[in-house]
Order: sequence, then C-alpha cells, then structure tokens
Amino acid sequence: MTAQLIDGKASAAALIARIATDAALLLETKQVRPGLAVVIVGDDPASQVYVANKSRTAERCGFHSVQHTLGPDTSEVQLLALVAKLNADPAIHGILVQLPLPKQIAANAVIRAIDPAKDVDGFHDINAGRIASGAAHEAFVPCTPAGAMILIREVLGEALAGKNAVVVGRSNIVGKPMASLLLAADCTVTIAHSRTADLPAVCRGADILVAAVGRPELIRGDWVKPGAVVVDVGINRLPAAPGEAKGRLVGDVAFDEVAAHAAAITPVPGGVGPMTIALLMLNTLTSACRHAGVAI
Ligand code: GUN
Repeated sequence: MTAQLIDGKASAAALIARIATDAALLLETKQVRPGLAVVIVGDDPASQVYVANKSRTAERCGFHSVQHTLGPDTSEVQLLALVAKLNADPAIHGILVQLPLPKQIAANAVIRAIDPAKDVDGFHDINAGRIASGAAHEAFVPCTPAGAMILIREVLGEALAGKNAVVVGRSNIVGKPMASLLLAADCTVTIAHSRTADLPAVCRGADILVAAVGRPELIRGDWVKPGAVVVDVGINRLPAAPGEAKGRLVGDVAFDEVAAHAAAITPVPGGVGPMTIALLMLNTLTSACRHAGVAI
C-alpha cells in the first residue's frame, strides 16, 4: 500500500473531546445542557448497534441523552405523537429517528414532522433546501457528508477549487448533500450512480472520489486515478465464510487494490463511520448554542 490512511477514528476522537469541552462551557455559562433524543423503531440489529453508539457518545460529551425504543408494530401516528412531544420539549435540542423504519411508517412524513431547528440529521426538506441553495451554514448538514468533508480537508487543505470530484451514489442522506458541499467548495462535481454509463471511466477522472452506493468493493484499483483522494462511505457485511461467525465488514471500495493507486484513502471500519457520530454530536451542540443565543 502506498496511500496515506485517513484515520477517521482519531479525527472523530479529537472532535468529540472538543465538543465535550464546549458543552461543559455552555452549561457553565448559559445553564444549557445539549439534549439529544434518539428514536429507534423495531429490532434491526445493525440499527440497534448504531443507535447505542450514538446514545453512548452523547453521554460521553456530557449531553442529556435519551433513547426511545419502540416496537416493530408501532404505527405512524404513534411515532408522529412522539416526535411532536420531543419537538415541544425544551430539554431536547436534537431529534434523530433512526432509518430504515418499518414498512407501515412513511419515513418522509416522519422526517417532515421533526422541527427543522432540531433536525440534527439534516434530513428535513428545509435543511436539504438550504444546503442545495448554498446556505449550508444556516442548515444542519447531514452527518456523513459533513464528516467526509472534514476528512477531505485534512488531506487537501482548503484548496479544493477546480478539483474534479466524483460522488458515486445519489441518496438524499449522502450522495446529494455530499455533491452540494463539494460544489460549495468550488469542486467540479459529477454525481454517478447505478445507471451511469462507463462508471470506471467516470471514476478515473476524479481527484476526489466518494463512494456511497452500498455495493461491496465495487470500486476497483484501475478505476482510480493515481494520486486521488478516496473516501469510502460504504459499510457492507459480506456473507460469513466457512468457520466464521460473522462476515467481514467491507466498504464500497476494494481497499487493497485502490490503496495502491490513491494518495489517501479512508478505511472501513475506522474511516467515515466514526466521523458520522462525531458530526451528530456537533450538530446537537450547534442546536443547543443557537437555542442559547451563543455563536459556535
Ligand atoms: N441510518 C443509517 N444512517 C443513518 C443516519 O445517519 N441517520 C439516521 N437517522 N438513520 C440512519
């Protein structure tokens, strides 16, 4: 491997330490403790792990952290009632409803019911619209793309203007906001997806390549321009090999192959994942600061 390994775990730990210090200062000076409510519906094991991690990190930051665990048969009306209660609760500054939701609940209806000022996931139309119209500083930016941008800047600094950025994946949660953030940084941005013609050729044009498609090891070594910065957002569990209890976790990038071409690459696990949680804490702190009328 020749590429620099981008250590998201270390960057996230440093950011969380700073957030904990700032949260303590906010409590001391304004008597406001940032409050995060995490809601999980059903018993998806991966979601349970993610949610437990979010609640635990909030506690480590000194936040008021509450978790609501609802059964798999919860109705949309019941979930909307909980969201309304959290919207009205002055101790809660951030509300996160873990996705995916069971099929009887329309995720869009729930996201739209969250007060945009408490939408620390950045999924509400109001926040998505602010990001798309170049006002990300007034929005909550979705945690994964925001974290990925920090990692990109750690490698390339602020000089992103004119770089060719290719985002593989067009989800509302990652691909689209990621493209908006890269565009706001004056990159020339291409959004590629499962229907893109000659995806390898499109990827080969990238100085910055962000993979967020959810396809294990899709991006191969010869798709990557020598010297590119590669950010792998995918978290995929491979089927267990004989004798293994669980399959290996891999990203959307064939790591060993791509590391031989790239200048820098994020690992899976330990790359973008920890940054997503750190950015959720930062968004919650930002919300509490806005509530308290202090600049962050
Ligand atoms: N499911 C997978 N990632 C996320 C995320 O960032 N936020 C929420 N709410 N659900 C998710």
